[in-house]
Amino acid sequence: MLIPSPKWLRGEDIATSEITPRHLFESRRRLLAMAGAGAAGSMLTPWFARQAFAQGKGTKLPATPNNSYVVTEKRTPYEDVTTYNNFYEFGTDKSDPARYAGTLRPRPWQVSVEGLVKQPKVYDLDELMKLAPMEERVYRLRCVEGWSMVIPWIGYSLAELIRRVEPQPGAKFIQFITLADKKQMPGVSRSVLDWPYSEGLRMDEAMHPLALLTFGLYGEVLPNQNGAPVRMVVPWKYGFKSAKSIVKIRFVDKQPPTSWNLAAANEYGFYSNVNPDVDHPRWSQATERRIGEDKGGGGFSALFAPKRKTLPFNGYGQQVASLYQGMDLKKFF
Ligand code: MTE
Repeated sequence: MLIPSPKWLRGEDIATSEITPRHLFESRRRLLAMAGAGAAGSMLTPWFARQAFAQGKGTKLPATPNNSYVVTEKRTPYEDVTTYNNFYEFGTDKSDPARYAGTLRPRPWQVSVEGLVKQPKVYDLDELMKLAPMEERVYRLRCVEGWSMVIPWIGYSLAELIRRVEPQPGAKFIQFITLADKKQMPGVSRSVLDWPYSEGLRMDEAMHPLALLTFGLYGEVLPNQNGAPVRMVVPWKYGFKSAKSIVKIRFVDKQPPTSWNLAAANEYGFYSNVNPDVDHPRWSQATERRIGEDKGGGGFSALFAPKRKTLPFNGYGQQVASLYQGMDLKKFF
């Protein structure tokens, strides 16, 4: 999503020379096998760090599967989910989060729930995690760049939290503000985005049971690169609406500013519902590639996985389309 130089943004346009995630570590793996642990080994430390991190199993997070929220498509392999990421606080390359997010300290952690609510409160992570039963839900998540994944997330509906803090009648939107700490996040020193990362939902969107306050994936707490210790997953919207490493949830009366909209208002609207009929100004949104489906392609999922048709609202239309009745979704993109 980097503005305004977008070549790597979507699978179709990525020049081979710019792909880092897999081919780099694939070729490094080969190089390593050939070179043994000699001089080449010391040059490859980040690769080791990344592999150890990606493969290191996190803390288990028990959850009850909620079968009402399970897509039956093949799940994206854990390795892809945790090594092909967007988390600009750690760099703009897809491999950067897995590589550098080891410096993020997901504990102790607090989330301030504030603004137009009757019961504002600073929640300690443990308290927040105990607020409602943890559920496992298998959601599609589609990135605005034209790739998607199917991931078993763990969390509970954001509505559970919203009800407890009792929004005031004037609260019309919710803003999510995420951590921006230069000491923990090397990417924050660069002005690629307006830090801290900010996202928002209209109140009825935030109350929709699909909107998941998320603490884990694949049976474990969130890996740092996926937004530890708490993030949103809003499956009917482009991935950037799903803010990672949240520190503030603010109830407000006006549509809040969002980082991507501030960066390029003509490209990233507030709603950002997945919509195959509304092209991004620089590419079509009609199709997507499922990461991990390029078996035989050497790991270049964003380039070589077969294209599949993008579904309105990412396939969640039955559940959410009514939220937008009467709205021109070309105007409110
Ligand atoms: N949250 C923060 N704080 N910073 C980011 O750069 N990137 C977004 C979103 N949340 C981002 C973020 C984008 S563009 C996407 S596609 C998803 O996170 C990716 O989530 P994933 O890496 O877990 O698949």
